[in-house]
Amino acid sequence: MGFGQSSIRSFMILIFLFSYRQVSVNGQNLTEGFYSVACPLAETIARATIRTYFLVQPNIAPGLLKLHYSDCFVEGCDGSVLISGPNTERTADANLNLRGFEVIEDIKRQLEVVCPGVVSCADILALAARDAVVLTNGPSWDVKSGRKDGRVSLAANVKNLPSLSHSITVLLNNFAALGLNTEDFVALFGGHTIGTAACRFITDRIFSTIDLTIDPLFLAQLQSSCPINGSGSSRVALDTGSELVFDTSIFKNILNGRTVLKTDQILLTNPMIYRMLQDFVTFQRFNTIFTRAMAKMSGIGVKTELNGEIRRNCSKVN
Ligand code: HEM
Repeated sequence: MGFGQSSIRSFMILIFLFSYRQVSVNGQNLTEGFYSVACPLAETIARATIRTYFLVQPNIAPGLLKLHYSDCFVEGCDGSVLISGPNTERTADANLNLRGFEVIEDIKRQLEVVCPGVVSCADILALAARDAVVLTNGPSWDVKSGRKDGRVSLAANVKNLPSLSHSITVLLNNFAALGLNTEDFVALFGGHTIGTAACRFITDRIFSTIDLTIDPLFLAQLQSSCPINGSGSSRVALDTGSELVFDTSIFKNILNGRTVLKTDQILLTNPMIYRMLQDFVTFQRFNTIFTRAMAKMSGIGVKTELNGEIRRNCSKVN
């Protein structure tokens, strides 16, 4: 009869692990209009605040989109990137130039006044990424909410963020492990239609081991914009000529070898991805796939009451 007891327990554990994985990977426990009763002003306050910052400082939009991506790929979309302090994700080399923290903090402060302890920082980040895209003329989508904030933020975990030195196969596997297919992968690269990169991320390919696949005129342009040792605060547009508008010119630039990051360049090495880049030059096609991929990305590794909380202050655990 011991068989019955322990089998049932093992079976229950398996069911729990299986459903937890589903929830973690796909964000199936998230719902639309999650705050419509508990905090009906949540989305309005978030949108208005981001707009106020954006009007003064337009580069806050790419900052917020990148912040959400950098959050989701490390420990899931749980606001772990927002936690400050020694050895947190924010201190990792790849995250040193992240921006937009003050916008999220500001939204959170306002929401704590109108509905204390209700809206998670992870949800604010997901809403902010959507609003940032919309403010730069990009498409909108419904953001499902209900994420809990994580309690773990370790610089060492930032190794899980896709790296500029990864091969296309490693990158595809990395995305696939999080439930994102090849089409999602290529569409999400469209996020580089807005924003800039610090010169230190490209010094190698434009000065040392020169990447000969870069368009020669464009290479010269990059070389004149960046200091040879990559130091200082110089930045270059990821989508030259259109860094503040969410459009498809990033795909034209990539197809023409006008690539800033090594990872954008290696997209050209895979024939299937090459065809997708060509498809995404059509704005409607790109919009449809990008919004679907963003909704999927925003559901990665979502935390629940079991392993998360609603932080009172986005930069520290309760
Ligand atoms: C293989 C995947 C990716 C790699 C290796 C990568 C790498 C980078 C790097 C090195 C930068 C410059 C960061 C800096 O200067 O601080 C950057 C900027 C950016 N990335 Fe990506 N990225 C990837 C995927 C994504 C995805 C999926 C999104 C969003 C959907 C995204 C959105 C952005 C944005 C908006 C910026 C500009 C940030 C700003 O102007 O502050 N990236 N990326």
